[in-house]
Amino acid sequence: MTTVLANPVGSVTNSLTVDKYGPILLQDVNLLEELARFDRERIPERVVHAKGSGAFGEFVVTSKNITKYCKADLFNEVGKVTPVAVRFSTVIKERGSTDTERDLRGFATKFYTREGNYDLVGLDVPVFFVRDPFMFPKFIHSQKKNPQTGLFDYNSRWDFISLRPETLHVITIIYGDRGIPNGFRHMNGFGTNTFKLVNSKGKCVYNKFHWRTNQVTDPDYAAHDLYDAIERKKYPSWTLYIQVMSFDEADKWEFNPFDDTKIWPETDFPLIEVGRLTLKRNQKNFFAEIEQLAFSPANLVPGIEFSPDKILNGRIVAYSDAQRHRIGANFDLIPVNQPMVQPVHPTIRDGPMNTSMNEGSMPNYYPNSFELNIRDHPKKYNESRQYVKTTDIDRFVSDDEDNYTQVNQLYLSYSADERKRLHKNIANDLYFCYDFIANRVIAELRLVHEDYANGVYNELKSIRNSKVESKAP
Ligand code: HEM
Repeated sequence: MTTVLANPVGSVTNSLTVDKYGPILLQDVNLLEELARFDRERIPERVVHAKGSGAFGEFVVTSKNITKYCKADLFNEVGKVTPVAVRFSTVIKERGSTDTERDLRGFATKFYTREGNYDLVGLDVPVFFVRDPFMFPKFIHSQKKNPQTGLFDYNSRWDFISLRPETLHVITIIYGDRGIPNGFRHMNGFGTNTFKLVNSKGKCVYNKFHWRTNQVTDPDYAAHDLYDAIERKKYPSWTLYIQVMSFDEADKWEFNPFDDTKIWPETDFPLIEVGRLTLKRNQKNFFAEIEQLAFSPANLVPGIEFSPDKILNGRIVAYSDAQRHRIGANFDLIPVNQPMVQPVHPTIRDGPMNTSMNEGSMPNYYPNSFELNIRDHPKKYNESRQYVKTTDIDRFVSDDEDNYTQVNQLYLSYSADERKRLHKNIANDLYFCYDFIANRVIAELRLVHEDYANGVYNELKSIRNSKVESKAP
């Protein structure tokens, strides 16, 4: 054993005491150092998606189809290999919770491309709870622990859902069979947000990203399942697809193409194959490589840009802000977060723990007469230019857009058995809710489909009849 400064330590197990029974001397700097370090071992857990597992592998382009739409270097050649880090997660509960919760799953991929890091920070479902990022913290609060009791609260969960029916689409997925997926390896993934692709001629389309699992079924569960499969060299893989929508189609589509509570139907916007992701390596150390792994939808590469998707716009700010709080100002210097292309030349400097990103002896102001160390990139990587019509700036209401049509289509696509399980899963929660909340949920479901409302109502009635103990408040 040595100290962190390499001083040899004489005893690994015994503190320095006066006589055999103590007291301990203040000069036992090894003991003080060990306790002080221990006190600081934890970093705050992610405010959402706290429980997760990750793995490392590669992405290989299998089809040239995307190059027509997107100039990104990582997609431009069949056979091109890009290293990746992936983290899967549950959303709502804490770092110590079970990973078999009924919940969405995170599916976040970091591509270490030749043009820098690109993060596709997605989910196992194609739709999201809300349309406006202003609603995200409010929604998450309704799903997390009650501020008074410190317990999960069915009333707040369903109160929010019934007051904001744009949540019904994703709720109809989570409370169905896909709410507890068979581990991470068997899930599909979705970028969920709408992005914009730019080709080498500067032409743009809007797009969605889709991961399709290449695994057949297997009975194990999430974290163990993923780790063990990689150890057994049963490398899990996914195929990446895109859907595209031209700007003209976007103008004419019956729904808002940037509304994350809607899907783009695959019959109208077919899947186009891009490439294959394979996970081949487990982390060597969970803290260093998974807990400190930092994703952000703001990390894009030339060829992939932001669309007007409001949720995406909100996310652009939230992630690195969270990471500066969770990990520290220079979280991007942690090896797992660094790009594989080096060196980097940002105009930012210093900050805590900055050992390598302060440009050495170069001047720290620009322009300067000494070293022309920073200039525009010769390739002129500006974002695509887009015409924006002059229009109103306002805080537009978003909860009154069509909240039911696509949920109705999803409900009708379920078999009778799937519907029965959906009704039962929702009724199991509503049993713990105040009547006025349960009734409002059922009234909202009636706007989706009569059978949906009646199914949940009947299940709720039969649970209530079968319980002898008194109902929780
Ligand atoms: C306005 C809406 C949203 C906000 C403000 C938001 C915010 C956040 C924040 C603060 C984190 C924790 C980041 C960290 O500490 O490293 C996070 C994690 C995550 N979010 Fe979101 N989020 C939003 C919507 C979404 C959507 C729509 C998706 C998927 C399409 C998504 C997928 C994820 C995933 C996968 C993670 C975990 C990343 C990891 O494994 O480290 N989020 N989100």
